[in-house]
This record gives sequence, structure tokens and C-alpha cells, in this order.
Amino acid sequence: MLVLQSILPLFLLFSSTNAFYGHGTLKCQFTSNHDLVYLEQVYFNKRLMVQYNSTLGKYEGYTKKAKDLADGFSKSKPFLKQAVRNREKCRTHMDLVFELQSHPVEPSVRLTPVVRQGSSHQAMLACSAYNFYPKQIRLTWLRNGEKVINYVTSTEELPDGNWLYQIHSYLEYTPSPGEEITCMVEHASLKEPKLYNWEPTFGAVRNKIAVGTALLFGSFVFVAGLFFYKRTTA
Ligand SMILES: *[C@@H]1O[C@H](CO)[C@@H](O)[C@H](O)[C@H]1NC(C)=O
Repeated sequence: MLVLQSILPLFLLFSSTNAFYGHGTLKCQFTSNHDLVYLEQVYFNKRLMVQYNSTLGKYEGYTKKAKDLADGFSKSKPFLKQAVRNREKCRTHMDLVFELQSHPVEPSVRLTPVVRQGSSHQAMLACSAYNFYPKQIRLTWLRNGEKVINYVTSTEELPDGNWLYQIHSYLEYTPSPGEEITCMVEHASLKEPKLYNWEPTFGAVRNKIAVGTALLFGSFVFVAGLFFYKRTTA
């Protein structure tokens, strides 16, 4: 079952001793094109008080007071009209979801060092994959091309709340010179496994050199351009 959910403005009511917590949700529930249900639900202190169910086409209350309120809503043309309009919006979103489901979305992957205390190893790396779809993914650590199995931990695939997922895999290791640490990513969006190599300090140094070179070249072009401009306008 798919549920698209948006939260209505939250409201808090305070009395002198307690805080009461109310919240409302709008939900689209569906498994296919044919069973869409649009729900509006209002809770008070976690208890469902009033609900609009598009299959019934009216509001229902679940306490005596809420029943009166719900009957009032159900008699209100603007309320019902808005609910029908929202249900139409659900339909549109539903198509978007099915569209998304038929196209895998490639993860963006980052390797980062993790600073930790009390580990028997000297270093820890995180391989993080963000914004991918579908959920199924495999991250594998390689050391000099060999699979590493020990000292690897991973989170579950975590929903981002927008139909996309993220996952984080951690490798504890003792660095040694000249080694190559790689995070290999396998996912439906990729024709073949994609490799991401960990480049400790070299990356930073190389970037600085590249920026420096670009600045130098830019200045050169600017001065040359100025010179040329002066000559042609003189
Ligand atoms: C909405 O109403 C339909 C028809 O009565 C019912 O089958 C369904 O369970 C209701 N959904 C919820 C969440 O109450």
C-alpha cells in the first residue's frame, strides 16, 4: 500500500498544567489505479476524532462532540468541494508515483572519513548513497580489489520521505600506504557496478593545484585581453 501524506498545520493548545497536541493529516492510499482512497484525519492527543473518507464521501466523528463537528463538515459545501478537489490532486500524484516507479533513479555517492573514539582500528570510512530508487541496493567495500567482509556495518535503506532512499555503509580499517579502498555500488539504475575510490589527502591537494592553475590562467587571459583591447582601441 502506498501512502502519500502531508501534514496539516500542527496545533498545540496549552492549559495551565498540560499541553494538548492536535494534528491533522491528508493521505492518498492506493495500490493501483483503481483503489484510490483520499483521507483527511484530525487527531487530538493521538486519538482519531474526525475523518473524511473519499469512498464514503463524508466526514465521520468518533466521539459525541466530534460527531456533531463531522456532521457540520459534511453539510458544508465548501468543505466537501475542497475534499473532492484534493482527491483529484491525489490522482495526479498517483500517476507521478507510478511514473517514478518505472524509472530507477541513480544514487549520488559520497565517501567520507568518520571520526570515532574507542575503536580498535585507526580509521573509519562511510560510503553514503543518496536519493536512489528503487530501495534495493548493494554497497560493497573493496581493499586492493578484494572484497572486505569483516568490520563492515550498514544502516538499512532509509526512506527520505520523497520516494527516494539513502543508505550508509561503514568500514573500519587500519590504513596502510599505497592501498586502494573502494566502495562498489550495485543498483537497478546502473548497468554495471560503479566504483568509488577513497582518495585521502591527494584529492584536496590536487583540487588546490587545479584551482591555482585556473586562477593563474584566468589572470593571464585577462591581462592579455586588456593589452589587446588597448592596442585595438588606441
Ligand atoms: C474508507 O471507506 C471504505 C468504505 O466504507 C472502507 O472500506 C475503508 O476501510 C475506509 N478507510 C479507512 C481508512 O477508514
